[in-house]
Amino acid sequence: MHTWNYPEIGQLIGFVTEAITEMTKVSSGLTEDQFGADTTYIGWANILRQGGYHKMHTHPGSAWSGVYYIQDGLGGEPDDAPEDAGCIEFYDPRHGVEMVPVPGNPFGQRLWFPPESGRIYCFPAWLRHMVTPYQESRERVTIAFNVRVENFETFE
Ligand SMILES: [Fe+2]
Repeated sequence: MHTWNYPEIGQLIGFVTEAITEMTKVSSGLTEDQFGADTTYIGWANILRQGGYHKMHTHPGSAWSGVYYIQDGLGGEPDDAPEDAGCIEFYDPRHGVEMVPVPGNPFGQRLWFPPESGRIYCFPAWLRHMVTPYQESRERVTIAFNVRVENFETFE
């Protein structure tokens, strides 16, 4: 769908470009005029129905990945649904860090984030993540994407 010639797709790619540019700045310490790269965008739609989920995975071969919530589907969840039902969860990539006994157990924990129509979450493609079982009665519609980065260059 990333090749569809619709203004909405172009707008979404613009949002993703802005997000990955910011993440590259933060992770590299460079300013926007100090780097450049060739990027390839790959996008696909997901429809999630009640009971659906995405098991833990990564997105091999890409630098950045993410999800854009077109329709979060919220509003029809049963009262006994878990607080994190249908949320995207990220896992600490550091092997064994949950063994470190410090107050608050800050290491090795999962982080989960709620869906919201219009929101984008971007993250490194290597970061393990999943979507917990979705409990809403309405369908959720999202666009997931990968961004491949090649020929990364830095400029003085
Ligand atoms: Fe994913």
